[in-house]
Amino acid sequence: MQNSKLVGVQKTLSPVLRAKALDNRLPDPILGDEYAEQAMRRLDPDYDKRRFGTSQMGLAAVVRAKVHDDWGRSFLADHPDAVVLHLGCGLDARVYRIDPPATVDWYDLDYPAIIELREQLLPSREHYTLVGSSVTDPTWLDRIPRDRPVLMIAEGLVPYLTEAELRRLLTSVVDAFPTGQIQFDTVSVWARRTSKWDPTLRRYDTRFHSGFDNPAELAEWHPRLEFVDEEPMNDSPLLMAKAPKNVRRMFRLLNLVPGMKRSTRIVRFRF
Ligand SMILES: C[S@@+](CC[C@H](N)C(=O)[O-])C[C@H]1O[C@@H](n2cnc3c(N)ncnc32)[C@H](O)[C@@H]1O
Repeated sequence: MQNSKLVGVQKTLSPVLRAKALDNRLPDPILGDEYAEQAMRRLDPDYDKRRFGTSQMGLAAVVRAKVHDDWGRSFLADHPDAVVLHLGCGLDARVYRIDPPATVDWYDLDYPAIIELREQLLPSREHYTLVGSSVTDPTWLDRIPRDRPVLMIAEGLVPYLTEAELRRLLTSVVDAFPTGQIQFDTVSVWARRTSKWDPTLRRYDTRFHSGFDNPAELAEWHPRLEFVDEEPMNDSPLLMAKAPKNVRRMFRLLNLVPGMKRSTRIVRFRF
C-alpha cells in the first residue's frame, strides 16, 4: 500500500495516524483506535520499528482526537438528527469510533488523493459519504442537506488554512445551517511564525498559514457564532495520567518553554 501520491500538506496525516496507531499499542490507550493501527500497518508495515518507533510524543495529538470525539459524542447525543462535517479527515476513523446512530448523516472531506487512499484502507458504512475536495472550494457545501443541526469537526486542519479561508469556511457553515457546533484546533501566532522551521513540516514542504492567540475572538466573525470552551492539549491531565513516564517528563520540560503550553488550542463554538 502506497501513500507516495500524497503531496505537501496531505502528508501531514501520517504522523497523526502513526500516533493514534502507537497509542493503541499502549496497555491503557487514550483513544484505543484499532482502525488507526490497521491502516498504519498497511501503509508502513515497519511503522513501529524505527529508532524512535516506540516514542509516544505524538500522544498530545491523540489527546486532541479524544477531546474532539468526546465533544462530538455529546453534541450527537443531544442532536441525533445532525449532519456531521468532518473536514480534513485524513485517515482518521472518527466515524467508527463515535459510531453514530443511523439518523446521523456523516460526511468525511479531504483532498481527492486522500479520499482515494481512505477508500482502500477503511471500510464504508451506511449514512456515510466521502467528499474529495479542498475545503476552500465553496461548492462542496452545496451537496450537504442544510435543514438539520450541524456538527463541524476539523482536527489538525485549520492551521493550514489562511485566516481569510477560515473566515469564509466558518461564516458559510453558520449561514448554511439552523444550529450547530463547530470544533477545531488552532495554533498560536508564535507557532504559525516558527512553523517554517519545523522539521516535520519542512519535510512535507508545508507550513502553518494561520495562528491566533485568542481563538475565542473568532466568534466575532459571525453574529450567530458563540465561543463555548477550550480543552488543554500539551498539559492535558489525560496526557499526564496516561502517557508513559518518559513522555510525561518531556512534556513537563517542553511546557516550560514560553508559549509551548498553549501552542495548540482545542476550541468549541456553537450557534
Ligand atoms: C494533520 S492532518 C489531520 C488529519 C486528520 N484530521 C487527523 O487528525 O488524523 C491534516 C489534514 O488536512 C487536510 N487538508 C489540509 N488542507 C486541506 C484543504 N484545503 N482541504 C481539504 N483538506 C485539507 C490534509 O490533506 C490532511 O489530511
